[in-house]
Amino acid sequence: MGRIRQVFLVAACAWVGCSSNDAGPAIPVDPVALYGQMCARCHGVDGKGDATLKLQMPIQDFSDPAFKMRAKAEEIETVIMGGRKQMPAFGGMLSVAKIQAVAGHVRRLAAR
Ligand code: HEC
Repeated sequence: MGRIRQVFLVAACAWVGCSSNDAGPAIPVDPVALYGQMCARCHGVDGKGDATLKLQMPIQDFSDPAFKMRAKAEEIETVIMGGRKQMPAFGGMLSVAKIQAVAGHVRRLAAR
């Protein structure tokens, strides 16, 4: 492998996290940063959903009080892990600790 390619791969892993063999939170998990990288392009930084994508897929407004009422932590984690319809699965990409952390952030967006 060329040196430049090697440097690129290391940088790419630092950015997206090459985490199928993720050992979990040896590095502190930053839920806001994770959400920003993996979720905000569809769900919006504020959790209200990307305005354009919302026209094409049923993106839930996380700040809607109705969502807060019905969304249980385990259900949010299950959707993140396994995906649902147009929502991609993150189970192969994120450790359980990261999924729990990002689910916690979704619930905090709902609690505001
Ligand atoms: C490609 C766009 C996309 C990305 C990226 C995405 N989602 Fe979703 N998400 C969706 C769609 C579309 C749905 C609705 C699925 C359905 O039809 O039931 C959804 C549903 C959900 C739900 C269930 C909401 C409900 O109504 O119960 C949660 C929770 C959720 N996403 C969290 C996340 C989190 C956290 C991330 C980042 C790790 C993420 N999503 C990344 C598109 C996306």
